[in-house]
Amino acid sequence: MCGIVAVTGYKKALPLLLNGLGKLEYRGYDSAGIAIIHSETKNIVCNKTEGKLKNLINNLSEKNIPGTVGIGHTRWATHGKPEVKNAHPHIDSSGTVAVVQNGIIENFQDLKNKLQKEGIIFNSDTDTEVIPHLIQRELNTLSKLKLENNGSTLLVAVRNVISDLEGSYALAVLWSGAPSSLVVARRQAPLIIGLGEGEFICASDTPAIANFTNIILPLEDEEIALLTPLGIEIYDSNNERQYRNPVSLKVSEQVIDKMNFKHFMLKEIYDQPDTAKNWLENYLIKNSENGQYQIKYPFDTKFLESIARIEIIACGTSKHAAMVGSFLLEQFSGIPTNVYYASEFRYSPPPLLPNTLTIGVSQSGETADTIAAIDMEIKRRSIAGDEKFRPNLIAITNRSESSIGRQVSNIIDICAGIEVGVAATKTFFAQLLSFYGLAIHFAQIKGSQSPDEIKKLITELIKLPPLLEDLLEKHDQSSEKLAHDFFNIKDVIFLGRGINYPIALEGALKLKEISYIHAAGYPAGEMKHGPIALLDKKVPVISIASPGEVFDKVISNAQEAKARDSYLIGIAPECNGTEIFDYLMKIPSSNEWVSPLLNIVPLQLLSYHIAAHRGLDVDQPRNLAKSVTVE
Ligand code: G6P
Repeated sequence: MCGIVAVTGYKKALPLLLNGLGKLEYRGYDSAGIAIIHSETKNIVCNKTEGKLKNLINNLSEKNIPGTVGIGHTRWATHGKPEVKNAHPHIDSSGTVAVVQNGIIENFQDLKNKLQKEGIIFNSDTDTEVIPHLIQRELNTLSKLKLENNGSTLLVAVRNVISDLEGSYALAVLWSGAPSSLVVARRQAPLIIGLGEGEFICASDTPAIANFTNIILPLEDEEIALLTPLGIEIYDSNNERQYRNPVSLKVSEQVIDKMNFKHFMLKEIYDQPDTAKNWLENYLIKNSENGQYQIKYPFDTKFLESIARIEIIACGTSKHAAMVGSFLLEQFSGIPTNVYYASEFRYSPPPLLPNTLTIGVSQSGETADTIAAIDMEIKRRSIAGDEKFRPNLIAITNRSESSIGRQVSNIIDICAGIEVGVAATKTFFAQLLSFYGLAIHFAQIKGSQSPDEIKKLITELIKLPPLLEDLLEKHDQSSEKLAHDFFNIKDVIFLGRGINYPIALEGALKLKEISYIHAAGYPAGEMKHGPIALLDKKVPVISIASPGEVFDKVISNAQEAKARDSYLIGIAPECNGTEIFDYLMKIPSSNEWVSPLLNIVPLQLLSYHIAAHRGLDVDQPRNLAKSVTVE
């Protein structure tokens, strides 16, 4: 949430900032702004606009701001409405200090009250605005000590101020008193410094840097850094200077292109056959001696042999993937598994149990709740002291270079490529595949399934790419037609059971995220305990009915909805029982275990077409952000 870019060097700052912000807009698009130290006057020039970055770019198109040191921000509103006055950068009353921030300052109200008593006038409703005022006050105090106006003085002022801040932040600060310096700092929010040719560029995430350099220095938690065109000084929270080598960015910036698709989301739905192909190539290997397939991980998996239970921590769509994973790990691999919302786990963790594997799932690898929950789990297990409670961790992420990628050493990179649409599609699919891989691996080491059963599942996974292509071809147009009839509905109920219950949840989440239609997913058998009261002819029911263990039960639950006049849409193969559906989105017959990987596709397409038909901003839905870096 919120993207920060900051630059100092010899190149013109404005294009660097705007380019960087463009790459971070997925973090928030409520407003955007920049501040640059004017190279002649040495004053801070600030420009902010409400709404998307394009408004800022248009606003600046005629303006030439000479200057090589600047900061920029794209905002996802927490404190204060998405209005210009709340857009960052925020500037102190003297106009000499400018700050951009990502995170939440939890004690801002106390700090604001104190500053107001001192006569400071606030211009925004944000928590951030206290920071420039506090820094200015600190600079005034330091000036009495006759410290020189330079970057080191700004560094001291910022350090003193952040020691009073509670909450999380990544921030970048400009001061006209030290016109070539930048101070950046972080606590529980990401910040990475890129070492370019003739400039340092600091940003919330690597895409903003990848255009300029592939040499980076990630700032560690609680660190603060002074950047000038001549070099970088990094200090930890004890004010100890830190020395470390830069690292190479693993991914060069990937071409992010919509191709001929109207929206990124549709393109990303269409990427899924390739996502499956990549996964099969990357993670499935055939043993040339015995012809058996094995899952290949980039880490030593020996520690998994002693695992007796699994806890999975995730948010949003990643949690739905984790729920499918949990079903597989319990029912296929025989390992007791629980899934937790990261935001709940952190404050009410389950009792510490021995020989537990903790899996963190995060597409972005930057979700604050997930990072904090993993961190808490590592800490409480480490202090437990007993070997059997030691932290055993795996992270499943699309961004191995992210904060979670650095926090956890055993990474399953889902290798889905950059996903631009805020609503996750291909990365959900790739997360699911990662869980199939884990389930197969555990079934092999625990012997929970016969080699034949395991082989059957692998054979079904290998068949996926052409099946997915077929599904896309069949359902793109049909869901567009269905969307035409349904774009005005107010409520939709999604039903699924067993391994497809999380798919019902994900189908409902997709629809509400991008079309703003109320949608709720339920385990089909639960409908009679409440949701059935909502049903009438205005509330369609989408029922996922995959042949297998619970097929007949799901069909009976669908009958109950039909008896209440609901229009019934089935996600199922054409077979006995499915004639009950008013509309059938046909799915190829498959083994029940792999059915989620097929069932999700028409649900994604249907949500997409309904939102597109409503003329909504499918790729950047209101109020959402792709990476949620506040708790
Ligand atoms: C945000 C996004 C969701 C995503 C969730 C978790 O809310 O809008 O699409 O599922 O964060 O993100 P993560 O990167 O941790 O998977």
